[in-house]
Amino acid sequence: MTEAKLEAWLEETRSFPPSEEFAKQANAQPSIYEEAAADPIAYWRTQADRLTWTKAPTKTLEWDLPFAKWFSDGTLNASYNCVDRHVEAGKGDKVAYHWVGDAEGESRTITYGELQKMVAKAANALSELGVKSGDRVAVYMPMIPEAIVTMLAVVRLGAVHSVIFAGFSAESLSSRILDSDCQVVVTADGAFRRGAAAPLKPAVDEALKSCPNVRAVLVVQRTKGDVEWVEGRDHWWHDIVDKQADTHAPESFDAEHTMLIMYTSGTTAKPKGIFHTTGGYLTQAATTYYNIFDVKPDTDVCWTAADIGWITGHSYIVYGPLINGVTSVMYEGLPDSGGRDRWWRIIEENKVSILYTAPTTIRTLMKWGHQHPASKDLSSLRLLGTVGEPINPEAWMWYREHVGGNRCPIVDTWWQTETGAIMISPLPGITATKPGAAMKALPGIMVDVVDNEGNSVGNGEGGYLVVTHPWPSMTRGIYGDPERFKETYWARFPGLYFAGDGAKKDEDGDLWLLGRIDDVMNISGHRLSTTEVEHALVGYPAVAEAAVVGASDPTTGQAIVAFVTLKLSAEDAEKDQTATIEALRDHVAKVISPIAKPRQIILTPELPKTRSGKIMRRLLRDVAENRPLGDVTTLTDPTVVNSIADLMSKGDGTEE
Ligand code: WTA
Repeated sequence: MTEAKLEAWLEETRSFPPSEEFAKQANAQPSIYEEAAADPIAYWRTQADRLTWTKAPTKTLEWDLPFAKWFSDGTLNASYNCVDRHVEAGKGDKVAYHWVGDAEGESRTITYGELQKMVAKAANALSELGVKSGDRVAVYMPMIPEAIVTMLAVVRLGAVHSVIFAGFSAESLSSRILDSDCQVVVTADGAFRRGAAAPLKPAVDEALKSCPNVRAVLVVQRTKGDVEWVEGRDHWWHDIVDKQADTHAPESFDAEHTMLIMYTSGTTAKPKGIFHTTGGYLTQAATTYYNIFDVKPDTDVCWTAADIGWITGHSYIVYGPLINGVTSVMYEGLPDSGGRDRWWRIIEENKVSILYTAPTTIRTLMKWGHQHPASKDLSSLRLLGTVGEPINPEAWMWYREHVGGNRCPIVDTWWQTETGAIMISPLPGITATKPGAAMKALPGIMVDVVDNEGNSVGNGEGGYLVVTHPWPSMTRGIYGDPERFKETYWARFPGLYFAGDGAKKDEDGDLWLLGRIDDVMNISGHRLSTTEVEHALVGYPAVAEAAVVGASDPTTGQAIVAFVTLKLSAEDAEKDQTATIEALRDHVAKVISPIAKPRQIILTPELPKTRSGKIMRRLLRDVAENRPLGDVTTLTDPTVVNSIADLMSKGDGTEE
């Protein structure tokens, strides 16, 4: 569809109701909204029955704003719920994961029965390394089954996993390890990306120089590269896990027992350790997976194309699918490892029926052309999902037409690391979807869009997205920092959870997410704060000052644009400009991660500032997005911004 045609169509039809056939067989039927609205607390108590409890909860919600407890007198084991109970129910031979390697032809199939043994061995090994209930374990691993096995083994022991995306630098890794005082790290020698081995262990070694409390490192051998070894601290997985007994009796823990920490970027330079507890998190992960993805455990093959280093991987590669006992695909590589049709081959070969990914990936696949999906048999697909950033109608329509064959419902799911599980989404057998809209709060979830004063806006109006009532998988806080939790999420609008996103209610009252309204950027669905990148830049010796903005980008949603002033004289800067920009980019990659590399770095003798000395970020954002500049009269020197705009429009400092 051309853009003009698409617009005309959107004007005219505006929505896609589910087919009768889909609606009839859907897990969630229309009465679910009424049932939940009539008594949300009772609704969630029923949802908790999706789990196997050692002691069933009699309490549902205890709410001491902003601190919630859900199902607090219940006890359970997360790992038992994900694995053992399915084996006990006779499903030991059912495939839990089809693992697809980065390299062509490399794959592993792991049944629930096998997974149970792997988890038991890993749990026994971690016990041998001294891990016990309440301890924190850092997981810094590639997309290999051992990563999932580790997560399940950690929670089986009542310990807490802090999975750190393997693309993060040694520095990012050490600050996260220190913040939650992890004493054990599980990693691999390296990872494969498009056939090349990328080392991981050296980053761990580097990070641990500043983490004296880490006493053990467990290393999976993946790439067989040379690694340095610290005797007594480092252990090969194959030495210590393989020899363990393949049974392990799970202990039960309180529903409010902390299960995981996931670091995410806020508006300051210091990432926040968002933590989740067991009963509520698992309940909502399970319910959302069942209702939104409409999973049929006996027949579906589900592929959440995300990394376990992010919350999407936690809730929808690991916990949601496993609690529901479905078969999942786990893919190690990049979308084009082995060619631009790789993605579609994975779907064809594994008969994937449910596909969940980020709009950035969809836009990239779209750019590569629809001849690739067209050349493969995608008829197994029956539902598509997106997450992580607003999806533009064009990408939505491409996904629907060229991937979903105009037959698969699309669920655009809004949620956050903090919400733990999906909050706003269509229900595929009920909702008439609109391209680009996440539509409606889920049953049992209450959200609103409010104005500056916290008043609910009317249909057709925009404002700030808030959640008005507690939900089971809400974060229980920022690890070790309850004050920051209150300030960040609960102070802007007293009594309401402030998500940090802008949103609009359309004429029908349906919700459209508009992106972050704070200093958080969304780069390819990865959250980064402007301050975090600014800190990295000013940490570079030659840099005097830096301002970072997220500018809209046709593929990655947003891209990082940095405005930097150097301590060098203008002349020196001119001379070394290209080299300096390259060095700055590498520096950011080293301090944070390659995902944080600016798309463009503008070296400028000055940053635009107000008379009171504040950097005018609004103007820089206008510059970065090539918008006409508004009022510049409050600036100390209005010519500064014009010369920056000039450099920007020439494409100076753009990554090749
Ligand atoms: C954004 C990812 C629009 C949003 C699960 C949120 C979205 C941030 C959507 C959380 C969506 C997520 N439409 N925006 N469907 N889903 N976002 O913590 O800005 O990595 O605040 O969690 O992603 O990112 P996080």
